[in-house]
Amino acid sequence: MLEDLSQHVLDIAENSVAALASSVSIEIAEDVPGNVLLMAVEDDGKGMSADFLERVTDPFTTTRTTRRVGMGIPFLKQSAELCGGRFKIASTLGAGTRIEATFKYDSIDRPPLGDMPASVMVIFMGHPEIDWTYRHVYNGKDFSISTVELVEALEDRELLRSTEVGLWIRDQIDEALSELRN
Ligand SMILES: Nc1ncnc2c1ncn2[C@@H]1O[C@H](COP(=O)(O)OP(=O)(O)OP(=O)(O)O)[C@@H](O)[C@H]1O
Ligand SMILES: [Mg+2]
Repeated sequence: MLEDLSQHVLDIAENSVAALASSVSIEIAEDVPGNVLLMAVEDDGKGMSADFLERVTDPFTTTRTTRRVGMGIPFLKQSAELCGGRFKIASTLGAGTRIEATFKYDSIDRPPLGDMPASVMVIFMGHPEIDWTYRHVYNGKDFSISTVELVEALEDRELLRSTEVGLWIRDQIDEALSELRN
């Protein structure tokens, strides 16, 4: 069941969409000298009750109706813990949710980053009604892109759905990530 981190990001971001968030921030932070890779997704969606939150990392807990088993959160938790990292979730009903997973950077079981630019493109294009922010930190240097500014420049939210804009977003992130790694 090995997954790329970018696929975990897609999964966890879809939960925020399902929770009717209007604003979601996604963060990836690579700290190579500190041997930590962090992934965090924070939203202002409907949140979870304390009781539900206690059960949500159990693979048999879900509110989805097409199948019984919700897997996004249990998978991420399992993967982080397998890699000497930690999994944290904080949620307040009616206010929002923050999910954070860390991995030992050099763990042989650590999921590769995968294609983050493509995943972010898919997320932004798929849900233009949401204000998205993607931030990527590499050894203290950071890059971020927000659909709030894009929408301001485009003057039309729906343009976020266009292939042209989507590919532009992907390329921007791609370039920024190679610059961070230089
Ligand atoms: N950001 C969130 N805000 C509010 N509720 C959430 C959030 N993330 C998860 N949940 C709740 O936790 C449940 C479990 O989430 P999880 O991603 O593990 O499985 P799922 O979304 O139900 O199914 P899958 O991800 O496998 O398609 C969800 O059904 C939802 O009720
Ligand atoms: Mg899910």
